[in-house]
Amino acid sequence: MSSQAPTGQGLLDLIRTHYQTDELIPLHAPCFDETEKNLVGDCIDSTFVSSVGAYVTEFEQKIADYTGAKHAIAVVNGTMGLYLALKTLGVQANDLVITQSLTFIATANAIRMIEANPIFIDVDENNLSLSADDLKAFLTTQTYSENGQTFHTQTQRRVAACVPMHTLGFCADMPEIIALCKQYNINIVEDAAESLGSFIAGQHSGTFGDFGVFSFNGNKILTTGGGGMLITNDDALAKQAKHLSTTAKVPHAWLFEHDEIGYNLRMPNLNAALGVAQLQKLNGFLIEKRLLAKQYLFETQKSPGVVSIPSPENQQPNYWLNAVLFETQTERDSFLKLACEQSIQARPLWTPMHQLAIYEDEIRTAMPITEFLAERLVNIPSGIRCPAGEKND
Ligand SMILES: Cc1ncc(COP(=O)(O)O)c(C=O)c1O
Repeated sequence: MSSQAPTGQGLLDLIRTHYQTDELIPLHAPCFDETEKNLVGDCIDSTFVSSVGAYVTEFEQKIADYTGAKHAIAVVNGTMGLYLALKTLGVQANDLVITQSLTFIATANAIRMIEANPIFIDVDENNLSLSADDLKAFLTTQTYSENGQTFHTQTQRRVAACVPMHTLGFCADMPEIIALCKQYNINIVEDAAESLGSFIAGQHSGTFGDFGVFSFNGNKILTTGGGGMLITNDDALAKQAKHLSTTAKVPHAWLFEHDEIGYNLRMPNLNAALGVAQLQKLNGFLIEKRLLAKQYLFETQKSPGVVSIPSPENQQPNYWLNAVLFETQTERDSFLKLACEQSIQARPLWTPMHQLAIYEDEIRTAMPITEFLAERLVNIPSGIRCPAGEKND
């Protein structure tokens, strides 16, 4: 690369070569072939296209087997999966729920849908996810215990749950977060929307807390069109989550008895058929994504002004979205403009929750890492290359 080349041009050249197209290169588009068409076609032929059908059960079982969780409950999307998990754990209006400010808005919205409020904690610079150190500092200095529960000292409101989010497929330090939350008797829902295929010390993300929640939105590593999945090792929680997701109907051959206010959140069979087909390809997707992450790492090692985020120790991320860091926000913005001019999709992270007007008044810690990353980080194309003749939708 000549010394005149703009910062990051080497990366853009690599992306163009990798995806071998002159057209727009999306950040992360799904890729389908006959496998998906056959199973979705079979589902249509069966006429079981709604929330009763063999593909829903099969998809649940296969996600449980893959992640090592005891139970999996398929739902309509990740957002409602988070809501359902919190609801099943007994989080109530006026409770407080700890999460990170650096997340997609669904994490915070699921908490507000219950009429609880989020407490925003900074993220760890090594894994971009909820900081165990900041969580510990917050619990130690700003809460007290009463009757086995934890309360926020200033507002005297109950801290009912903690929702660490595994950012971009990197994982929060779950062993440490679990130990802390156990000590303070706080339930954990892992927002694993982005981390299917990510492992911490050989254990799948989402299997550490009371619940883990995946998303199968069209931009995720594996898609069902729209969909989500709760996983848990707890028999009673699994039973209650499924009950609530299916209108709280008491099982009976013909009677409509409902024993509490429930929801219609079960994933339709049509979407589950797509999921079963996609799941067959997950290992191949992971291999391709890890290779691409390595190529990005090599390229950034020889590109001044831009660095890759290295894989955190003891983790195997899925590299859902690869991320690079620029030295300043101005450099970052120049790269975004350059990528846009070259028809390559690149995106900054989400605006941190505490900087949105709707969430600016929530309880929070200082956010130096969140703000640093929000100003400098860029996601670059990370999708799977479709085989020749196939086309990304
Ligand atoms: C971190 C995070 N949480 C939750 C969600 C919500 O998932 P869904 O779009 O399936 O509702 C997403 C993605 O969309 C996400 O990235």
